[in-house]
Amino acid sequence: MTQDGIGAMEIDTSKPHPARIYDYLLGGKDNYEVDRKAGDQLASVAPEVWISVRANRGFLQRAVRYVIESGVRQILDIGTGLPTSPNVHEIAQELAPDVRVAYVDNDPIVKAHGDALLSRAGSTSIVLADLRDPLSVIDHPEVRRVIDFGEPVALFLVAILHFIRDEEEPERIVATLRDALPAGSILVLSHATDDFADDRSEAQAVYNNATASMNLRPRARVEAFFDGFELVEPGVTQVPFWRPDATPPAGSEEIGFYGAVAVRKD
Ligand SMILES: C[S@@+](CC[C@H](N)C(=O)[O-])C[C@H]1O[C@@H](n2cnc3c(N)ncnc32)[C@H](O)[C@@H]1O
Repeated sequence: MTQDGIGAMEIDTSKPHPARIYDYLLGGKDNYEVDRKAGDQLASVAPEVWISVRANRGFLQRAVRYVIESGVRQILDIGTGLPTSPNVHEIAQELAPDVRVAYVDNDPIVKAHGDALLSRAGSTSIVLADLRDPLSVIDHPEVRRVIDFGEPVALFLVAILHFIRDEEEPERIVATLRDALPAGSILVLSHATDDFADDRSEAQAVYNNATASMNLRPRARVEAFFDGFELVEPGVTQVPFWRPDATPPAGSEEIGFYGAVAVRKD
């Protein structure tokens, strides 16, 4: 057993996991040698990755505040990742204690750590489900226990869609989720891109041996995910430039993450 009481049998350390690579890059401790090696390989070919993951996390935090200030009180966060302080429910519930949060991830390690962090009976839950089967997410009883799809929902797809291959039809997946959301719902999305680099094939190759592939997409593809939503200012932008609350760090122009927030139309 690990310190969190998570059974060692559940943990596959033979392949890098996106959640654990990301945790390593963020300076977390929930990762293994294989993940650290993948993270170091990634940083050797794309050195901006260190500031990129932090900038993505900053975007996520500012977007949570935007959602709460907009009055939405339910968050469906798909592609949760390993716990990283402050977590989505902590930011949200500090501002509005009545916020309900359903976390979804397809990595059993994320679920196990989430279970260790959350009280299942409360207003927060963590569900093991796969974004590639969006109806299995929406219809999951634990998601339905926490989220009322009759009221506006903030759907978070932050740094997850680039793990979905074109043949898995990411646009269809987002559209299926969108159709389950009432008007006034909010989409918070970020996505990796190679628009700001000459060649990122070596960076993508780091994920060839991982449990999910890396699918970098250009701006127009990222914008298309917002079909049926109205973008709020400043629209689709590199994550450090989405409503920054401090001066973006040096090198921000090279960050290969787009992010945006949008509201579901009537
Ligand atoms: C880079 S982390 C992002 C964590 C968090 N959203 C953030 O931006 O800080 C991506 C997460 O998506 C999860 N993930 C990848 N593919 C998924 C899928 N098909 N269904 C559900 N979760 C997935 C990974 O396990 C990982 O925890």
